[in-house]
Amino acid sequence: MYSKYSSDKIRIFDTTLRDGEQTPGVSITPKQKVEIAVRLDELGIDAIEAGFPMVSQGEMEAIRLISKQGLKAEICGLARAIKTDIDAVMKCDLNYIHTFIATSDIHMRYKLRMNPEQVLEKAVWAVDYAKKHGLQVEFSAEDATRSDRQFMNRVFQAVTEAGADRLDIPDTVGYATPQYIGELVNDVKTATNLPISMHCHDDFGLAVANTISGINAGASCAHVTINGLGERAGNTSLEEFVMALQCLYNRNHNIKTELLYDISKFISNTMGIVVQPNKAIIGENAFGHESGIHTHGVISNSLTYEPISPELVGRKRWFQAGKHAGAHGIRNMLLDFGIEPTDEQLHEIVEKQKNLADKGKSITTAELLSIAGEVMHNNKFEEKFKLYDFHIVTGMNIIPTAVVRLNTDGKDFIASEIGVGPVDAALKAIQKIAGEITSIKIREYSLDSITGGSDALAEVSVKVADKDGNIVSARKAGEDVVVASVQAMIDAINKIMLKKIIYSKNKS
Ligand code: KIV
Ligand code: ZN
Repeated sequence: MYSKYSSDKIRIFDTTLRDGEQTPGVSITPKQKVEIAVRLDELGIDAIEAGFPMVSQGEMEAIRLISKQGLKAEICGLARAIKTDIDAVMKCDLNYIHTFIATSDIHMRYKLRMNPEQVLEKAVWAVDYAKKHGLQVEFSAEDATRSDRQFMNRVFQAVTEAGADRLDIPDTVGYATPQYIGELVNDVKTATNLPISMHCHDDFGLAVANTISGINAGASCAHVTINGLGERAGNTSLEEFVMALQCLYNRNHNIKTELLYDISKFISNTMGIVVQPNKAIIGENAFGHESGIHTHGVISNSLTYEPISPELVGRKRWFQAGKHAGAHGIRNMLLDFGIEPTDEQLHEIVEKQKNLADKGKSITTAELLSIAGEVMHNNKFEEKFKLYDFHIVTGMNIIPTAVVRLNTDGKDFIASEIGVGPVDAALKAIQKIAGEITSIKIREYSLDSITGGSDALAEVSVKVADKDGNIVSARKAGEDVVVASVQAMIDAINKIMLKKIIYSKNKS
């Protein structure tokens, strides 16, 4: 029945659309759910948990739409061990159900208000009912890791006899240790021969380690979410799990790892949950290097400070100017723009940017190039676009409007635009000017709050592309999101312009 998976391939069951959507504050439309399912399928996910049909009409509609997409992945719906839930899964035209009931004392007593025998009976009834309706059944003993081991195994044995196809061990509150997970999987293997899945939560930051431990003990499937989204601290992060599996344990899977970064960004934008910069694999800083010692090492051999090559997960390495930066890193950053200072000039550039950084300033690439221009007495490295001023009119019942004045090559340009909000209006106005001159387009825009409160410090990231395929990004932090957005946009445009100008001048 499961011949599609060679025995040594770990099956990836993605629950971004179910447990991931249970992330506090996240709610997405049926159309967005379908888009996500299509992207997950392209990524190579083996099974997609499309949702929990009982929660709403919209959820049902989304799952039904997903089931009609003709995706390669198996599509599954979640159901409690009750008739209405199981019927709802069938109404979504699914033939794969994930049904669950809690087996821990605390859940049985305070949530289900059932005794263990009643729980056992319900579990068997649910599996039997779903099987009689022709469904593939994955059964979860919710809160397995806090359950009495003997009782949990009795339940797993009984549902196996009732015809379950797969068993799942959920660490519902992320309470297990890797060692305990290994013991549980061994227990379950002695109780039944069915394929075992691991479903771990990250309350103690152990979700990936626990899932790996389950796999090493003999589980063949991992429940994961993109960006580790999920209830509370989230679930096992797909990107971390898959890369650890591949690089550290030499195990196989069907995931196209080079798509990991793109899908992570897509989910973050669609669900509105920002990824922390220092998150493994997908965080902005995961392949960034600042310190002189590290950049020197990476430039001579990337293996010195990069355990994973960035291209493997669809990313690029980058260097940051700043007080820790050394000559090798700065030379490399300048070389990226075709700028080759002498050793003496390089030393002066490094010192100048360190002095700035010591004053607490984070150095943008455009600023670094401008320092290089000053030291090398070459004004072609100067910022091409200079912001003179801008003003915004916004409020209730008026259309936000921005007027921006820029200067480039000694000429003034003024543009005004309307937008859905002040940032949108301002960026459109800048893009109008830049578009006339350089055909630059905004690819991505994101806004994160760094501190809390109404005077919070916000960080804006902008990615822009030109028609030659150059892509650059820029970040700016500030208390005023509109000002930070405008500055980040100007910085990105300057970077892309400098790339163009310097390269074309060097060629000619
Ligand atoms: O964490 C959990 O226990 C779950 C169940 C529905 C399997 O998500
Ligand atoms: Zn869960």
